[in-house]
Amino acid sequence: MKDGKLVTMAIESSCDETSVAILLEGRQVLSNIIASQIKVHQVFGGVVPEIASRHHLDNINRVTEEALKEAGVTMEEVDMIGVTYGPGLVGALLIGLATAKAFALAAGKPLVGVHHIQGHISANYIEHKELEPPFMALVISGGHTNIVEVTGYNQCRVLGQTRDDAAGEAYDKVARVLGLGYPGGPKIDKIAREGDPHAVEFKRVFLEKDSLDFSFSGIKTGVLNYVNSEKQAGREICVADVAASFQQAVLDVIVAKTVGAATRMKKDKIVMAGGVASNSRLRAMMEEACKKEGIALYYPSPVLCTDNAAMIGCAAYYKFKAGQTDGLDLDAVPHLPL
Ligand code: KG4
Ligand code: ZN
Repeated sequence: MKDGKLVTMAIESSCDETSVAILLEGRQVLSNIIASQIKVHQVFGGVVPEIASRHHLDNINRVTEEALKEAGVTMEEVDMIGVTYGPGLVGALLIGLATAKAFALAAGKPLVGVHHIQGHISANYIEHKELEPPFMALVISGGHTNIVEVTGYNQCRVLGQTRDDAAGEAYDKVARVLGLGYPGGPKIDKIAREGDPHAVEFKRVFLEKDSLDFSFSGIKTGVLNYVNSEKQAGREICVADVAASFQQAVLDVIVAKTVGAATRMKKDKIVMAGGVASNSRLRAMMEEACKKEGIALYYPSPVLCTDNAAMIGCAAYYKFKAGQTDGLDLDAVPHLPL
């Protein structure tokens, strides 16, 4: 405890960010240290799992020390340890999990395993102090695209998910086709502002009527075919136009399905989370669509959209409050269902 408030230490290492955070009463962040490996993986055009694990191992002790120091909190003051145990890269998850277990055992603190997506959603509780469930959530990142009905802090139900690529993955793959580099999401976001979103009408994939699932693998092929046919015809492509058109096709589907799910399930709040939730066009389109339907829209600032431990700490807090702790036999689950 610190100043009579419950202290959470949280660890996140599911992909390529090593992060440790300290929070008071679940929603007040004292520190949120993030060691990003983007530069390491950039040369490979994507995250290399084995390299990610090794870097987590190199970083984790330093990041933990820094988080405690910046927060001005000692290990004795920590009341419980939250950690991501899935989904994610198994070798990467294991480093965070082993560290959390070691601290839990050595310092005699309870351990709370957190689902990574639950963490992304919880980033909004940190940023928006008044936010409470129920609401509809759109979790959209490099690894996930989910529409989730959130009925309580620890209760939610997945209504729709991607059947192939995640939205962020589609952004990254299309950026590579367009020669924009990795990670592609922010690069497409930026260059698309100068392009015409209706220059090329790529196919919008809605799947079956009323389905809340997504499919983004086709659009990557669509962009690739377009680029190749233009090149063969000796025409130069306008990268900004193609990026804007790709983005528009993807976002038309995402916005329609998310807002449709909220109105159908009578939810007056939509919460966005995950790396792609910082996309400027997505935010603008969602603002407009939600306004039309009288729905309040929430999303975190960019640093809390991408992977970080503060969001994991917030989710862990609500599990801990509900008495949900885990034993030291907690294992990493790469395909953990929500
Ligand atoms: O949440 P995150 O850090 O990691 C996962 O859990 O996957 O999300 C990373 C993903 C990457 O695919 C990246 O390209 C995408 O989020 N991203 C964006 C933007 N910023 C990050 N996509 C579109 N527009 C952005 N501004
Ligand atoms: Zn994530």
